[in-house]
Amino acid sequence: MKIGVFDSGIGGLFVLKELINKYPNNMYYYFGDNINIPYGTKSKYELKLLSSKIIDFLMTKEVDIIIIACGTISSNIYSELKEIYDIPIYDIISPTIEYLNNSNYKTIGVLATKMTVKSQVFNKINKDIHQASCPKLVPLIENNLDYQETLDEYLKQLPKVDTIVLGCTHYPIFEDYLNKLNYKTINMGKILCEKLNLENNKELKIRLYFSKVNHNLITNIDKIIKYDYQLEELCLNYQK
Ligand code: DGL
Repeated sequence: MKIGVFDSGIGGLFVLKELINKYPNNMYYYFGDNINIPYGTKSKYELKLLSSKIIDFLMTKEVDIIIIACGTISSNIYSELKEIYDIPIYDIISPTIEYLNNSNYKTIGVLATKMTVKSQVFNKINKDIHQASCPKLVPLIENNLDYQETLDEYLKQLPKVDTIVLGCTHYPIFEDYLNKLNYKTINMGKILCEKLNLENNKELKIRLYFSKVNHNLITNIDKIIKYDYQLEELCLNYQK
């Protein structure tokens, strides 16, 4: 199968990693729009322009399905994208909502981008939900900078919760730290992969496209993706 995956940057690579674990023998095309990062503070209009450019590009690779490995796009314009394109498109958030609604978790914290929190998508969870919008985290992660102090500040915005939803696909990078603080964490990529039922073909191939390639990016990719990949710089000419 040919599978298209995209995000604003490296966050969706955490989703790609889960996909490869579960369905290793496929051809993956990944687009990370890091020249336009962060998506989490952009308007719906911009998000639609940016994501449709990416989907158009992935379709030139004749992908069979597209996975929106971005919480911000999933929560704000998934239904619009589904209306525009015929190809099967999966969002990253709804499987998590379904999973949590059928779970026994009681008090749940959600860390997500500003636009995801604003969309109120997580209000569909029928539990005691507390959300913190965390605009400072994605730039720190992308630039490989220390995030712990900033994350601690955001955690202080939540009341006492036992479970934290990593509501932005960049946030699995915090998973070990949050687990050490005794939080249970919900990784949306893992939950999506449990739900998907994809074919497993013969061979793993990974093609990564980023709108801006530099040393920092490669360091970050290598921390997440442990298989061989081909990387190409590709700017989709989005003009503001
Ligand atoms: N990783 C994305 C998300 O899940 C986008 C983060 C951003 O670019 O602000 O929301």
